[in-house]
Parts: sequence; structure tokens; C-alpha cells
Amino acid sequence: MEIDPSAYKDIVFFTGAGMSAESGVPTYRGSGGVWSQYRWQEYACQTAFEEDPQKVLAFHEVRRQAVLACKPHAGHDVIAGQEKAHPGVTVVTQNIDGMHQRAGNRRVIELHGSLWRLRCPWHGVIEDIGEKYRSYKCRDCGSWLRPDIVWFGDRLDPWVVSEATGAIRKCDLLISIGTSGVVWPAAGFPQIARENGARLLEINPEPNEMSHLYDETIRTGAGSALPELFKKR
Ligand code: OAD
Repeated sequence: MEIDPSAYKDIVFFTGAGMSAESGVPTYRGSGGVWSQYRWQEYACQTAFEEDPQKVLAFHEVRRQAVLACKPHAGHDVIAGQEKAHPGVTVVTQNIDGMHQRAGNRRVIELHGSLWRLRCPWHGVIEDIGEKYRSYKCRDCGSWLRPDIVWFGDRLDPWVVSEATGAIRKCDLLISIGTSGVVWPAAGFPQIARENGARLLEINPEPNEMSHLYDETIRTGAGSALPELFKKR
């Protein structure tokens, strides 16, 4: 199968953890997944942060180091290349690893926040890129800084959701890559695109409960599927 991007006005690449798997970033579910090794109740919810902010920040710092040791792969490069070549390309991602931006994408909607931001309850969001956090505490008021990530039990930022759903509604091609389709509201995005008449394509080596929604499916990894799909473009 090949895609001719010029046949579409608005293309959304909708990505999940499987997009980064071939870069070496572990997925969340399945064997070797983050949530099979760590209890999210201890590391990825507001209650855990309030009980032991230092432990939660240290966990995220280890994840930052692991992500920085990884590099974007050929599939990320294809998506970045498509954004350069096509004015209607948007990435809607559940990933917090910043890998699309490192590959060169600029129109990236991060549904679940970012490992590269922290926020102070009083002084707002701070960008912080590097293996170590510059500080665990706000320089202005001394409050613990919280990773700017949507954890279990958190509500997504309504502005980000509205931006993402706007892009999803408008697109005429949605390519979903490496998501298990179990975390909402992201899991509902393919259905929204479908209701608006988009062509839906799934790239994922494994089928899941949402796979029936797609018009076509490619059962290989993102690193080989994307270069193959956009071979001549
Ligand atoms: P999951 O870990 O739930 O699912 C990863 C998906 O990637 C699975 O369906 C795999 O089959 C697929 N996959 C594995 N290797 C792949 C490859 N090389 N190419 C393509 N696909 C591959 O990850 P998400 O669906 O992203 O939230 O999880 C959604 C959210 O749950 C995450 O954003 C995270 C988690 O809790 C937060 O951290 C806020």
C-alpha cells in the first residue's frame, strides 16, 4: 500500500507509545511495558505526588534519561518530512517523550503533556529539557514542581482536547500508529474522524478493540511501515 499525500487536504498522524517502541522507549502495556514494571499508583497520579513528590520526580527523571538515550527512527523522519512538504499535516500524540519534535515536527498536539515540562501551582508551566530537572522546586515560591503530564485520574487540558478534536474532525486522512486504544478520550478519536468521512489507516503489529474502525490496517512496526507507505513522496 502507498499513500499519495497530495490527494488529501488535512492529514493527522495520531500516535501512541508504539510509535516510539523502535526507538527503544518502552510502551505502557504488554510485556516490558511501563505499567507492568511500575505501579502507576506510586508514580503516576496526583495522590502519589502529594505523598512523596521527590520519589515521583526521581521516577520521571529516570524516564527523561532513558528517552534522551533514544533517537527518533525512520518512521518519525517520515512524519517530519510530511509536515515539511504538506501544509495540512498535524501530529496528535499521546506520547510525552517529545520524539516527534526531536525529529523536526512543529505542529504537534500533546494530549497527555510532556516529560520536558514542569508546573508550579502558583507560577505556571516551566520548560525544562535535560537529563536532570534543573530544580525540583519553584525558584519563585519553593513549591514542589509537578511534571506537566496527564496522570491517572487527571483531566486533560480542555484547550488541548479541543485543538486535537478540531484537527481530527477536519482531517480527510487519519493514520493511527502504535496505540492500544484503551485510554480515553484519545481512544474515541478514530471514531470522530470516521464520522466526518476521513479515510482511516492503522499501523500496529497487534490488533485491538478499536481495530474494526479502520478502513485499512498494516500489521508491522512503525519504523518500517511508514517509510514503505510514503515511499515515493
Ligand atoms: P500502549 O502501551 O497501551 O500501547 C502501545 C501499542 O503500540 C500497542 O497496541 C502495541 O501493539 C503497539 N506497538 C508496539 N510496538 C509497535 C511498533 N513497533 N509499531 C507500531 N505499534 C507498536 O500505549 P498507548 O496506547 O499510547 O498515558 O497508551 C495510551 C496512554 O496510556 C499513554 O499515553 C499513557 C498510558 O497510561 C500517560 O502516560 C498519561
